[in-house]
Amino acid sequence: MIDLNGKKALITGASSGFGVDFANILGEVGMDLVLVARRRERLEEVKKSVEEKWGVSVKVISMDLAGFDAASKLYKLVKDDDIEVLINNAGYGIFGHVRDQDAKEVDTMIQLNVVSLAALTNMFLKKMVEKESGYIMNVSSFAGFNPMPLYAAYGAAKSFVMNYTVAIHAELQKTGSKVKVSAFCPGYTNTEFIDVSRQKKSKFVKMAMGESYPAAKEAVEKMLKGKPVSMPRFINKFGAVMMKFMSRKRAALGVYNAIGK
Ligand SMILES: NC(=O)c1ccc[n+]([C@@H]2O[C@H](COP(=O)([O-])OP(=O)(O)OC[C@H]3O[C@@H](n4cnc5c(N)ncnc54)[C@H](OP(=O)(O)O)[C@@H]3O)[C@@H](O)[C@H]2O)c1
Repeated sequence: MIDLNGKKALITGASSGFGVDFANILGEVGMDLVLVARRRERLEEVKKSVEEKWGVSVKVISMDLAGFDAASKLYKLVKDDDIEVLINNAGYGIFGHVRDQDAKEVDTMIQLNVVSLAALTNMFLKKMVEKESGYIMNVSSFAGFNPMPLYAAYGAAKSFVMNYTVAIHAELQKTGSKVKVSAFCPGYTNTEFIDVSRQKKSKFVKMAMGESYPAAKEAVEKMLKGKPVSMPRFINKFGAVMMKFMSRKRAALGVYNAIGK
């Protein structure tokens, strides 16, 4: 692995799930960390555990990244830290028919999953390009590959994340930059995601569910290798390839049939 010892990483959504795995994976290679999420107590627990296990220094920032101007506020707080790795991981989904969803709640989700992520990527990318060094991972999803009935707004948000990231990857490659950006696209994974999204753990969800740590580890390795996209597990890759050969309409109906039970 590339030597990241003593360098600094910023991880959003680090109070549970993938974010905690990213903190451990980067802590293990000797990176000092800045961890961001809303639940301060949970962040303090992660800080304590990572510092004890890996002997690195961890700073926590408790803030709501869905707020207006949240990305700029966060950037101002860390602009003097030399961030080498940014992982835009904070996010959640809202399960159900769009007609039953609260427009304000959807708006807030898009603010977090799309607007703040795009702004943070933009601001940190500029600095990284200036110093010709750095890595950004944007957490997208299997849901970003196709229309996702019952996760319609979430899936569309994750499509933005994937396409935005892969487009930047091409811009960097074409201009010979050493900065790397990568979209991480997991499928159902055993974190707090399902409960937060209010989806039932149906038979299908249980069957499709993977563990977060190996997926996060693979995503970091792919990011460091400069791969534009990483998708863990055969079941996800198989599903994504299958849907490529279907019309969007058929793919969308197939998703509804699978997750709507
Ligand atoms: N698990 C899956 O099945 C799955 C599949 C595909 C993609 N993903 C993506 O993976 C990423 C991580 O999710 P996870 O699976 O690890 O779920 P998780 O355990 O629910 O973690 C989500 C993280 O995001 C943070 N977060 C949520 N709202 C926030 C806000 N307004 N401001 C700041 N932080 C906020 C949460 O912290 P606080 O609540 O403390 O703020 C938490 O640390 C998300 O982008 C998700 O969409 C997950």
